[in-house]
Amino acid sequence: MRKPLVAGNWKMNNPIESSKILLENILHQAELLESMLAKDGKASALDIAIFPPSVYLKETQEILTGSSLHWGTQNVSAYDEGAYTGEISASMLQGFGCDYVLIGHSERRCIYETLELDQFVLDKIVAQKYEMATSHGLTPIICIGETEEDYAKGKTEEVIARLLDVLIESKGSKALAQTVFAYEPVWAIGTGKSATPEWAQDVHSFMRERIAKHDATTAESLRIIYGGSVNANNAAAIFSKPDVDGGLIGGASLDVDKFIQICFAAALKPNKI
Ligand code: 13P
Repeated sequence: MRKPLVAGNWKMNNPIESSKILLENILHQAELLESMLAKDGKASALDIAIFPPSVYLKETQEILTGSSLHWGTQNVSAYDEGAYTGEISASMLQGFGCDYVLIGHSERRCIYETLELDQFVLDKIVAQKYEMATSHGLTPIICIGETEEDYAKGKTEEVIARLLDVLIESKGSKALAQTVFAYEPVWAIGTGKSATPEWAQDVHSFMRERIAKHDATTAESLRIIYGGSVNANNAAAIFSKPDVDGGLIGGASLDVDKFIQICFAAALKPNKI
């Protein structure tokens, strides 16, 4: 059975004091939600993970340790240690109790794109980070999605297949069982223009089928979450689709009420396999 995952990517928002308050409020509301679900016999109905700016990891660890919430960072270095100014390694993240790490977010890819690196080279960097995360016991949430231009040209499947093939080549398909994918169409991020539930379902199902060609068991068990303008109003419809296993939430994760409503929608998801 695939347990839904709702992940809040805070990006580079809010000073430390208000971030601590937000986190405490999320924890409090998540615990209320959990006890409500437990009364309905739906204990542990979902995983919740928070991705604060890395400089808030210590405070995040202090607030969330001992709770059922998970946390992680928005990026990780492709290298283990050395002269990589400004980078943070996977082993350093382990020291702060992280369970997850976001890899290949389009807002990170953009930074490399300004260097005019080829997309295939970027996929290789994502694969290197993926190897680094998994070899340090972190669960990678690998972001994948087409730009508006690719979408208009009908290249969605091509873009997605390219990264999946690079990842499978790097560690084999079995390793993907420990991985979460986040389908994040770039045109839907922060635009208020979410993909339709049907579009998200079609892309997630394409991803599962592509992985199933190598390993059907892994394809069936790994979680694929959707990100891009998910809010309290559209979450239930998006999560109702059989291949959508939760969401990666940007803007709405900065508002405790909206974020918890999205978590609630994921916990009530029908058709959980
Ligand atoms: P929004 O939910 O603000 O569109 O951001 C999505 C995202 O980028 C999550 O990583």
